[in-house]
Amino acid sequence: MCGIVGYIGSNQAVSVLLNGLEKLEYRGYDSAGIATLTEGSLDIYKVKGRIQALKDQIDSNIEAELGIGHTRWATHGEPSEANAHPHQSQSGKFTLVHNGVIENYQEIKEEFLTGVTLKSDTDTEIIVHLIERLFSDVEDVLVAFQKAMSLLKGSYAIALIDRENPDLIYVAKNKSPLLVGLGQGFNLVASDAMATLRETDTYLEIEDKEIVLVSRDNVSIQKLDGTKVIRDSYVAEIDPSDTEKGTYDHFMLKEIDEQPIVMRKIIQQYQDKNGDIKLDKKIRKVMTKSDRIYIIAAGTSYHAGLVGKQLIENMSQVPVEVHIASEFSYNMPLLSENPLFIYISQSGETADSRSVLVQTKAMGYPSITITNVPGSTLSREADYTLPLHAGPEIAVASTKAYTAQIAVLTILAVDTAQAKGIELDFDPLKELAIVASAMESLIDQKEAFESLSKELFETTRHAFFIGRGIDYFVVQEAALKLKEISYIQAEGFAGGELKHGTIALIEQDVPVVALATQENVNLSIRGNVQEVIARGAKASIISMKGLERSTDDVVLPAVHALLTPLISVIPMQLLSYYAALHRDCDVDKPRNLAKSVTVE
Ligand code: F6R
Repeated sequence: MCGIVGYIGSNQAVSVLLNGLEKLEYRGYDSAGIATLTEGSLDIYKVKGRIQALKDQIDSNIEAELGIGHTRWATHGEPSEANAHPHQSQSGKFTLVHNGVIENYQEIKEEFLTGVTLKSDTDTEIIVHLIERLFSDVEDVLVAFQKAMSLLKGSYAIALIDRENPDLIYVAKNKSPLLVGLGQGFNLVASDAMATLRETDTYLEIEDKEIVLVSRDNVSIQKLDGTKVIRDSYVAEIDPSDTEKGTYDHFMLKEIDEQPIVMRKIIQQYQDKNGDIKLDKKIRKVMTKSDRIYIIAAGTSYHAGLVGKQLIENMSQVPVEVHIASEFSYNMPLLSENPLFIYISQSGETADSRSVLVQTKAMGYPSITITNVPGSTLSREADYTLPLHAGPEIAVASTKAYTAQIAVLTILAVDTAQAKGIELDFDPLKELAIVASAMESLIDQKEAFESLSKELFETTRHAFFIGRGIDYFVVQEAALKLKEISYIQAEGFAGGELKHGTIALIEQDVPVVALATQENVNLSIRGNVQEVIARGAKASIISMKGLERSTDDVVLPAVHALLTPLISVIPMQLLSYYAALHRDCDVDKPRNLAKSVTVE
């Protein structure tokens, strides 16, 4: 979490930093700040709150050739102006921004910083004082910076400026994401290429424990021990217009609407010229060799993993376990003889998933990352990557990444089945095309979902979603979507489990949304709905064409039974979107959240 940006070049620093921070706001948005350096004068601007508050405070005519900026998601210390970055050393010589968590900040404070009065509660402030302390011994900024970085334990992406040197930004990285953007007569530093696409499409990847010196015309990378590193640049394949809202009020609605396009993009990307599945042969090999697959993910990606288990087990007949990344290390199951780990992550940066990947790699097990960001940490560190091709997902609440993950898992499941010689009466690319059209017809019914959302959620503080079988996985995602953006306390429950305790919470007018997309559970889930109606609940049923009753609120177009999550989730996303909208919640940036969760 947290986003950093840095710029050195012409007089555009302020506008580049503010624009970059706006694009990075998805990484955290509780406070923000920038530091600029102009003719020996260093200015720092900090606010509690959003980038807009920072913009309101800064004179847009300020000319600066050099600057660093930060948007924060609080880890150490509450959201406040004092805890906002940049942080400065005691003499004011050094100023820095940091994304990550310094685990040994207390030890560093005790060993190196006696007598230093801290102005914030952050772990970050320790770093800038440490650099100044080490500089006073060696009188060489680079040596002090290197030494400081080698003392830090934890995660960091750091951009440091020296008031006495307007020609350089010192950069370092470990575990937190960081890129250097290359321009003509200027260079940039950013947590994500999205921040600086307006300025450049050419980037250098920075690896862990590297230090980078960024000047106007040059970028030099070295390891912590000073060994020079030569690395080729790459061109980021992101269309800058994908990072804009266009005519939409919210990214979330735009991203919900993009789902049919994403389905078609996935079909195109995973199809060869004969219309067959196109997948790296090495992935096929590792899938067929494995005797058990372990899916590791968090949040919405975990919910996609639950559907993925059904798909892989049904089609390719390999047993699959799905684990919450943050729990895996403590509740590690007995592993099979030939395990394969699949990491599902929209951002490819989730620290909980990454820490499992580090662990399973050290154990020597193969890994695949399914991600929307090829080049992200999880993508680089896993053996293989399956990209989602969903385009940037900017709303904090995940929508199109979830359906893209399920679509890619479908292709993977079928490809594995084919490689194992299992006969399937299922053409995934054709079925996904049917899904894309079904999605379109649902998206066209926004008004109906808006009024249903109003009816169900306008005044309630609690809500329940129930389903059985594959629908149970989707209702868990539905509950997460509703609670994270509308702050209604919601639970996704297995229909049959409700009566074992939770039904005690059902009272007059509590909304209960039931999913009924599977023939084998259609009658039983409807029975569960009757049980809650009998206790006063305001029930609503979303069913599948062919299984519907005249009283159902939504009838989904028919798609293959295993692919129903791809379309049943769309009403859920829209119901949540409108619930948040009607409650005046900040749909794209819900409180306390950040899109990329890079702390464990
Ligand atoms: C919810 C949501 C989160 C993420 C979770 C994992 O809408 O977006 O639950 O799914 O933080 O993030 P990734 O997929 O980037 O690993």
